[in-house]
Amino acid sequence: MSSYQTINILDMIDAIGEDNVKEILSDFSCPKNREIENFVRNNAIEFAKRKMSVTHLVVNENGDVPAIFTLTHKAIEISNEGLSSASKKKISRYAHLDEMSNSYILSAFLIAQFGKNFELSPQEVPDGDQLMENAWKILVKVQHDVGGGIVYLECENSPKLLSFYQNEHNRFRVFNERYSETDQTKYIQLFRFL
Ligand SMILES: CC(C)(COP(=O)(O)OP(=O)(O)OC[C@H]1O[C@@H](n2cnc3c(N)ncnc32)[C@H](O)[C@@H]1OP(=O)(O)O)[C@@H](O)C(=O)NCCC(=O)NCCS
Repeated sequence: MSSYQTINILDMIDAIGEDNVKEILSDFSCPKNREIENFVRNNAIEFAKRKMSVTHLVVNENGDVPAIFTLTHKAIEISNEGLSSASKKKISRYAHLDEMSNSYILSAFLIAQFGKNFELSPQEVPDGDQLMENAWKILVKVQHDVGGGIVYLECENSPKLLSFYQNEHNRFRVFNERYSETDQTKYIQLFRFL
């Protein structure tokens, strides 16, 4: 079984130089989600340098990148409706209820990109649950250093993806949906307490 290390793309740039990181990422392949593939190949370095979002590279012994995830933080609105009283109590630690909209507006950690590299053989790639564990470790560390308590993500309306994020290991739950401005793609928004 392969062993993996998770490396912040900015640390990777410091260690081996931007051109080499670009070269390694140019092979990243994600046919199930071309947006992620394009982001990793063309935007991940720039976004991290500008501190818009930071991509973390899962690296194996051969120096390949079998998976990535990208983290940032952003304001979200979570409706009060349908939340359990335990969740309401927890959310109110981080946000006030806006009476007008009956929703909480708060800053949350966002898993902005999350995907495996399908260029490599499946044995060389962590599974999705392992990848989430790696992302979670970083979020726990950030929470320890700066506080905050809610993580969210957006995914396309695919039953397989939705069941992956809501499985027993990952435990995200749906709180809203939105349509992209460019092509009206529907995204389901899910959150989880950190
Ligand atoms: C999401 C992901 C990390 C889950 O990894 P995993 O738990 O190891 O599971 P698998 O890769 O085997 O995928 C599970 C199923 O979901 C399907 N699936 C994965 N990504 C999908 C997508 N973007 N759209 C539709 N179906 C998808 C797979 O085809 C697979 O279906 P199958 O069981 O019929 O073969 C991984 O599938 C992935 O990298 N997908 C592409 C990138 C992506 O879509 N990321 C999520 C963005 S919100």
